Amino acid sequence: MSPPIESHSESDSARFKRQAAEHAVEAIQPGMVVGLGSGSTAAFVVRRLAELRTEGRLRDVVGVPTSRATEALALSLGVPLTTLEERPVLDLAIDGADEVDPRLGLIKGGGGALLREKIVAQASRRLLIVVDEAKLSPRLGTRWPVPVDVLPFGWRSQVLFLEGLGARVTRREGPDGSPFLTDQGHFVLDCAWGPLDAPEALAERLAARAGLVEHGLFLGLTSELVVAGTRGIEVRRP
Ligand code: 5RP
Repeated sequence: MSPPIESHSESDSARFKRQAAEHAVEAIQPGMVVGLGSGSTAAFVVRRLAELRTEGRLRDVVGVPTSRATEALALSLGVPLTTLEERPVLDLAIDGADEVDPRLGLIKGGGGALLREKIVAQASRRLLIVVDEAKLSPRLGTRWPVPVDVLPFGWRSQVLFLEGLGARVTRREGPDGSPFLTDQGHFVLDCAWGPLDAPEALAERLAARAGLVEHGLFLGLTSELVVAGTRGIEVRRP
């Protein structure tokens, strides 16, 4: 039984996330293979998909989860899953974001799932991003640091490298103060640069560094943005 998705105590932010997610789910067609993002907004996508299945719709849709948390949620709600090994090309992926700029560039990785999220995004024919209006930003880096997924081997060298690029670097920690580990057992370094003038140039520098597995700048990947807020739902394309 899926948990109720309507609640009178739902915050504005949660309501907008749910509205954006439910709007995006309308893009899913029967038989599609769909990338399932991570985070609270993407969880509304999974819940809506499960709800439609109980109504007898989209029963042949299968998902590829971007994190263990999304996998567990989907399985608990009876949403069938597959893998990129079995289905290496996805019709669609729907995911959230931490920050979105006017060109629909993104910062992602607030939940630490950026590596799998980017793999799934790049394996998908279309990437739909679902956000509440608070995620919109004039320039990436204004509201959120750039998460960087690094191998534990040599991580202190990566901190020095990133500081050399001007970042204030914090290794992400779990609630008990131990290092946060991604689903792949990597560390996350949160890198505060402030508003970025040239995110593409930074992305190139980060991509060229060994041991630095992936970064949370998602540039040129968004096909459509669904944003929900006080003025309703808006769909933007790059
Ligand atoms: C996880 C992500 C999420 O999409 C991002 O953090 C947004 O989360 P939420 O929908 O909970 O606000 O990138 O790695």
